[in-house]
Amino acid sequence: MAKPKTVFICSECGYNSSKWSGCCPECGEWNSMNEQVSDISPAFKITTKSLTALSIGEISVNDEIRFKTGMTEFDRVLGGGIVQGSLILLSGDPGIGKSTILLQVCEYLGNTLQILYISGEESAKQIKLRAVRLGVKSDNLTVMCETDVRAIINYIENTKPQLVIVDSIQTMNVSDISSTSGSVAQVRESTNLFMHCAKNFNISTVIIGHVNKDGNIAGPKVLEHIVDCVLYFEGERHLSYRILRAVKNRYGSTNEIGVFEMADKGLCEVPNPSLMLISGKPKDTAGTCIACIMEGSRPILAEVQGLVAPTGYGNGRRMSNGFDYNRMSMLIAVMEKRAGYFFGNSDAYVNVIGGLKLDEPATDLPVSLALISSLKDKPIIDSTIAFGEIGLGGEIRAISFCEQRIKEADRLGFKKCIVPRHNLKNLREMIKSDIEIIGVSSINEAFNACTN
Ligand code: TYD
Ligand code: MG
Repeated sequence: MAKPKTVFICSECGYNSSKWSGCCPECGEWNSMNEQVSDISPAFKITTKSLTALSIGEISVNDEIRFKTGMTEFDRVLGGGIVQGSLILLSGDPGIGKSTILLQVCEYLGNTLQILYISGEESAKQIKLRAVRLGVKSDNLTVMCETDVRAIINYIENTKPQLVIVDSIQTMNVSDISSTSGSVAQVRESTNLFMHCAKNFNISTVIIGHVNKDGNIAGPKVLEHIVDCVLYFEGERHLSYRILRAVKNRYGSTNEIGVFEMADKGLCEVPNPSLMLISGKPKDTAGTCIACIMEGSRPILAEVQGLVAPTGYGNGRRMSNGFDYNRMSMLIAVMEKRAGYFFGNSDAYVNVIGGLKLDEPATDLPVSLALISSLKDKPIIDSTIAFGEIGLGGEIRAISFCEQRIKEADRLGFKKCIVPRHNLKNLREMIKSDIEIIGVSSINEAFNACTN
């Protein structure tokens, strides 16, 4: 018979090793490795449990029940509402508005559901004050200030609410784990317990998770694989708009976004984000161009700005905000080699307005045009929009969803669209309006078409 083994387990992160060490090699915590006697290796265990597998045809599926939140933007990101029995993680920087948005949806959801709001961060009084400010007064909303997960789950088992909100997972505490709240081991175990509770009793659960300094949720993304749906709430702290984005969704698409604005009565939906994002565009200024990205099924226009200035040091500085840094360097190299624009002794900066991220190849062209416009100090004509992917040969390549993008630009009153020449086929018949569509095949051609 195999001998029981001794293992050393880190109480902070759960790392295990056969050797003791003073500092955990995984999380760097000191004096956290505790000795435990492990069972016999599981591979040698023989179990008598009998299992059955179902044929895929036999598995019955009932249509999943979804609860609408009363906010169209929120529903869109979730894929049509909160699925009954699902576990959702809502994460974002502290102070971005996670508690606010969840308290707001309680008003509408409270019409049909019994809701339990568990707060480990704020007192009941603070929550009440916020609820009054947000106009939330549903009788079906109950509030509990508690951090002991086992006690909470016991309470949920007895009262069976239909929606549970946990604010936040970093404050939750499982008493049999010795590490402090917010440590990886605590957060992981608490989430596991809430997950079992959600699945066993078919209770929809929303967990709030703060993004910590490293930009990960509670350390090394420990929760994302456990939950059904991961939502990120993003935005610049000093700007009022917030973007809700799904990064994982077992019940819907992941590339939908919802746009909100923080006002004095909480978050308001922004049904027409394109208009908001381009509203402050300066007129007759060099170094700005309008781009269009597809967020799921929805085209969104955004302003991208480029600034090229003489460098103060030997090597030109490159910086980008909202656009991939490596892609920007590649585009600059292509413009130098293939189109004859030299950035060698200049600093180059790219910035996307409104905290939006341009992560689509179709935004190569507007980014390049903004940079060239700044380099040459020539403004791009007002009411002009450009999209196209740029290849390493300097060619403008075809993109997808060209028609939807042009229609969105047309709807917002744009007069001129610079599109890849390969996309021109059949485009004219599909677009009924008289917006000018110009097909281009090189960077120079595109720049000439959009400047005077
Ligand atoms: P909060 O929801 O507490 O953030 P989180 O739970 O993500 O940490 O949001 C707090 C911020 O929102 C705070 O800076 C104030 C602002 N706010 C408003 O501007 N208007 C409002 O009506 C509310 C409730 C909050
Ligand atoms: Mg909060």
